[in-house]
Amino acid sequence: MTRTNILEAKLAESIRRMAAAKPFLAEGRFSSQDSKPYPLVVARASGGRVTDLDGNEWLDYNLGHGPLILGHNHPEVRAAVEAQLTRGTTWGAFNEVALELAQTICASVPGIASLRYTASGTEAVFTALRFARAYTGRNGILRFEGAYHGHSDLALLSGKVAHAPATIRDEPVPDSRPFVDSAGIPGSAAAECFVAPYNNLARVAEILAQHAGRIACLIMEPIQLCLIPPRPGFLTGVRELTRRHGILLIFDEVVTGFRVARGGAQELYEVRPDLTVLGKITGGGFPNGAVGGPAEIMDAIFDPDSDRYVFHAGTFCGHPVAAAAGLAQITVLSRDGWYPRLASMGDEFRTALREILRRLGVPGQVLGVGPAWGVAFSTREVTDFRSGLSVDARLSQDVVLGMWARGILYNATRNYLCTAHTDRDLEETLAAFEASVREALDQRRI
Ligand SMILES: Cc1ncc(COP(=O)(O)O)c(C=O)c1O
Repeated sequence: MTRTNILEAKLAESIRRMAAAKPFLAEGRFSSQDSKPYPLVVARASGGRVTDLDGNEWLDYNLGHGPLILGHNHPEVRAAVEAQLTRGTTWGAFNEVALELAQTICASVPGIASLRYTASGTEAVFTALRFARAYTGRNGILRFEGAYHGHSDLALLSGKVAHAPATIRDEPVPDSRPFVDSAGIPGSAAAECFVAPYNNLARVAEILAQHAGRIACLIMEPIQLCLIPPRPGFLTGVRELTRRHGILLIFDEVVTGFRVARGGAQELYEVRPDLTVLGKITGGGFPNGAVGGPAEIMDAIFDPDSDRYVFHAGTFCGHPVAAAAGLAQITVLSRDGWYPRLASMGDEFRTALREILRRLGVPGQVLGVGPAWGVAFSTREVTDFRSGLSVDARLSQDVVLGMWARGILYNATRNYLCTAHTDRDLEETLAAFEASVREALDQRRI
């Protein structure tokens, strides 16, 4: 049987269910980010595994797109949620659990003295951009190509770079103007957006030298996609440049926050941004986001007598169930000493993947920091979006299919480890990876 036949047989009920839902579900999926090779309808999940409608169990490295660092249905997170549910679902009012989460975040993340909640990372990003504009009185945004900041207008300019031709690999970013990743984004947004390659301090310096007077902030993932680390000196370099030009530095720590360290990438690399954006892990599997910064900025933009005063609101801001889940996750992570353990789990796992590539003689780079990991089948070092375009897309896709055929939910780009993944799970995954790469190479030779 081919892998396609195996997967179609294995996922028969998921495929049937998704086909039946297609007339009601635009494009047949929940989100443009859902890029699965086959329909897989999840029925339930526990620890590091999910079970689908056909009853298959899968080792899960997607983990709800990243919030579930303790794995699915962790008993202490579930208990906190159940206790909260006995008191109600949402109140649209001050509540102790969201206050406690805010205190915990402020005590953990070096760059946050006070914060506002949102209901998602996307919302938190566009809120942070507004904060920066209000504070500086300027409109322009500088960002890095290929970083994902959610799906607001400015986040989708050179974010997914969906329409960029593969030939751009070796070209400089043209005039630092963005690619538009979605229809419906006004030209006025694009006119306010400047784009630089990640890890290229010289280009950031050039853009700022030319346009700083128009730019409110530089927004960045401190570790791009939690996969590509900053070159030594890059983060301190952008910190110095942004400070010198009086523009705010925003770290989007939706993925890195409470993952690569309790205080996120800013703790790991000891660089403090002006504003920090959080999401995923802070909601413990429920929708949540936050934007925070030092008192100097937050007090200035929340001074009702100031013309810099920003309006920020939301039905679900400070949602008690999300806060209870997020707080429980963060508490368990630190109480049980998980940060150093996740870091060494990630390091050892990446080393083992590199060893497989070496053994098979396959060019590639194993990326990731902390519990995030990904394999770029490329002869070139991946340091930014364009060098990432050199990845062998066919080999990547073949390996995804091989992993799926072996019951592993593996993504061609980013994957996450969680505390529920056991040594045996990781060994099984490494064996499946080796077999999948071998198989893909054999097919290529046919
Ligand atoms: C770095 C980063 N920022 C923002 C977002 C958007 O968050 P959400 O999907 O919760 O809107 C994401 C989502 O994956 C992200 O990875």
